Amino acid sequence: MIELKQISKKYTEHTTVLNNIDLTIKKGEYIAIMGPSGAGKTTLMNIIGCIDSCTGGKYILDGNDVSSYNDKEKARLRNEKFGFVVQDFGLISSMSVFQNIQIPLLYRKNKKGNQKEKIEEILKKLKLLDKINDNVNNLSGGQRQRVAIGRALVNSPDVILADKPTGALDQATGKEVMDIFTELNNEGKTVIIVTHDEQVAKCCNKIIHVVDGKVKAM
Ligand SMILES: Nc1ncnc2c1ncn2[C@@H]1O[C@H](COP(=O)(O)OP(=O)(O)O)[C@@H](O)[C@H]1O
Ligand SMILES: [Mg+2]
Repeated sequence: MIELKQISKKYTEHTTVLNNIDLTIKKGEYIAIMGPSGAGKTTLMNIIGCIDSCTGGKYILDGNDVSSYNDKEKARLRNEKFGFVVQDFGLISSMSVFQNIQIPLLYRKNKKGNQKEKIEEILKKLKLLDKINDNVNNLSGGQRQRVAIGRALVNSPDVILADKPTGALDQATGKEVMDIFTELNNEGKTVIIVTHDEQVAKCCNKIIHVVDGKVKAM
């Protein structure tokens, strides 16, 4: 469970992006985060995903106060608990599908276990197994985003954080990507998606609006 208690974020003394936010996200929720450009949606996602820290308040994740964690502890948590998906896919273009999905596994202490089997299983689910050795440059946008989702899944995270995951895709391809998130949510994962697209938000069970430094659940 994600519990933000009176969370604030200031980038400088005079720019308060998030202002005393209270937000609880339970395991298995499927949430859309909406709001105007510059409202602080990405900042909120980065705090939830332990990429960034709040400057005020407390972040309790699964009962632990992670706002007190140091960078190393946060990095470990980030790699184990969260899977990230971004608008422009964030893939390494000189690498194959397999290599891109493998990246998070290289940062794990315990490198045992059958990585290849795990990656193949994920690719099968994402209907990309036949592309396993292809360079990601040779894939379509929708395929690339599915590879990025594969990379987000490879450490079996509890929570998927997707920042405008359909923003660079046409509507039909975006729908395919949303179907994957819906399936992952049905399997029990918490899914949190930043979007400007009403159709995307409709797939989710709850919409949270970020406006003027505050959050409003709808
Ligand atoms: N690293 C940063 N340093 C300074 N200001 C930032 C930084 N990141 C974001 N901001 C500012 O914080 C505000 C919120 O940004 P962001 O969270 O990216 O909004 P959104 O994702 O809703 O468009 C914006 O005014 C942006 O310019
Ligand atoms: Mg943003």
